[in-house]
Amino acid sequence: MTTAAGDGAGAGVVEGAETPPLALVIFGASGDLTSRKILPALANLAERGRLHEGFTVIGVARTEWSDEEFRQVALKEAPGASRRWAKLVSRFRYVAGEYAATETFDRLRELLAEADEHHGTKGNRIYYLATIPDVFAMVVEALAKESCNVPGTGGDFARLVIEKPFGHDLESAVALDRTIHAAFDEDQIYRIDHYMGKETVQNVLALRFANAVFEPIWNRRYIEQVQITVAESIGVEHRGGFYERAGALRDIVQNHVMQVLALTLMEAPTGMDAHHIRDEKVKLLRSIAIPTPDEAVDRAVRGQYTAGVVDRAPVPGYREEDGVAPESATETYVALRLSVENWRWAGVPVYVRTGKRLPGRVTEVVLQFHRVPFLAFEGTLARRLRPNVLVLRIQPDEGISLHFGAKVPGETFELESVAMQFGYNQVFPGREESGGYPRLLHDAMVGDATLFIRSDEVQQAWRIVDPYLQAWSEPGGGLHFYPAGTWGPHIADLLLERSGDSWWVPEP
Ligand SMILES: NC(=O)c1ccc[n+]([C@@H]2O[C@H](COP(=O)([O-])OP(=O)(O)OC[C@H]3O[C@@H](n4cnc5c(N)ncnc54)[C@H](OP(=O)(O)O)[C@@H]3O)[C@@H](O)[C@H]2O)c1
Repeated sequence: MTTAAGDGAGAGVVEGAETPPLALVIFGASGDLTSRKILPALANLAERGRLHEGFTVIGVARTEWSDEEFRQVALKEAPGASRRWAKLVSRFRYVAGEYAATETFDRLRELLAEADEHHGTKGNRIYYLATIPDVFAMVVEALAKESCNVPGTGGDFARLVIEKPFGHDLESAVALDRTIHAAFDEDQIYRIDHYMGKETVQNVLALRFANAVFEPIWNRRYIEQVQITVAESIGVEHRGGFYERAGALRDIVQNHVMQVLALTLMEAPTGMDAHHIRDEKVKLLRSIAIPTPDEAVDRAVRGQYTAGVVDRAPVPGYREEDGVAPESATETYVALRLSVENWRWAGVPVYVRTGKRLPGRVTEVVLQFHRVPFLAFEGTLARRLRPNVLVLRIQPDEGISLHFGAKVPGETFELESVAMQFGYNQVFPGREESGGYPRLLHDAMVGDATLFIRSDEVQQAWRIVDPYLQAWSEPGGGLHFYPAGTWGPHIADLLLERSGDSWWVPEP
């Protein structure tokens, strides 16, 4: 499909571009994501003077709200915001209606024309799908049918922002892409993974490609194993129904873990723009080995939490949570052993794990280096030394630490592992972690797709996780239980012990 609405490839990983005039249309404006993430992110941008004066928002949802009720939500969700935000919110409009109904779009078009005329949005549009995934295809088809996939009169762009999940497996992801591509060109589409908006995820690029010391040792000759941990201490909260259909592999591994893994292990891009970075990420994802069904069983652990204690408080097991079936076989924990088949990483195991109700909330990438070829400190207290480890802490307490051996002061030659730390908050005080949404919304506005997920990335990530989904589709599916507040099922330790490895224990 061709439209006049395509954008450029994006300006690259740069901050500071001026946002253009535009109308942001949010489908699912009555929902949790809109109130908890999108509106506060817009308030954040408004407060920092990052929104063009020709900017406005039109909310669309079935809930029977008036403009005023939608505006009250926008004000309530940004309590610290100043009069600048209040002034902007006073022009927000709301359309109550079914997502694909002609009347809804008639009203939307009226309000867009009004925004162009009164607020100077100049025919530029961003449509944000912040509704449930079941209606994504329906809304996209309606946008095309109602000619909303092209800019308004005099406009430069019409873009589509989509929230995860991008499909339920490879087949459904391909089908969703086919529907979306029938309406929008790929360069109009901005698929959000909020992890990509996090400073420390972007800092992986800075660490690797703006420093001379790391890249020469960033390969199989020096690195023995890689670990990625995404741990949550919370349970499924009020999202039991959603989680039952998703599970940890789909909810975290297919998207966040694959994104972090790709940035950590990819080759150096020849430019920091959307094409170059995403090309390298896809290349890396393509080189991850796909297991046979037997290997998928052997190289993966899936678990589910039972009742336990987290933060010194008793918590229920997963099967006792609201919206969860008493016999549920959904996994709340996954550990995988992956291998990357390319010259840089051949033979280096990449362990990934994620889980709910683990002892803490932490996301880390751990690169463990080979031990020295010969330990000349034989007979001393050096043998307890851990290998050198570089830890990229993505949340919380964002930062980087390098662990190495140092001599303990005294007469004996005792060595101990110590750490050199770089803490984001200490070095850049006052910079609050925004959760990524302000940055990503800003980038979608300026047309920079670098931090958004391209369709081939989505499909490659499903290609990697699909064999595990298939292997687990048998009744029971090899589910292992772990008490809430522990680091997952014991068998996940065995996954590493077989190769003489062990999980890195994140610091609290
Ligand atoms: N919430 C988060 O923190 C979060 C984080 C990352 C990604 N996401 C993704 O963002 C999207 C929205 O998430 P959310 O948490 O905001 O969802 P939500 O609150 O459950 O739903 C958003 C809106 O969708 C509409 N909706 C709900 N059920 C519907 C149905 N059966 N048919 C048509 N419309 C329906 C509702 O609006 P009306 O009934 O008024 O139409 C609701 O306000 C999802 O794709 C989700 O996976 C959310």
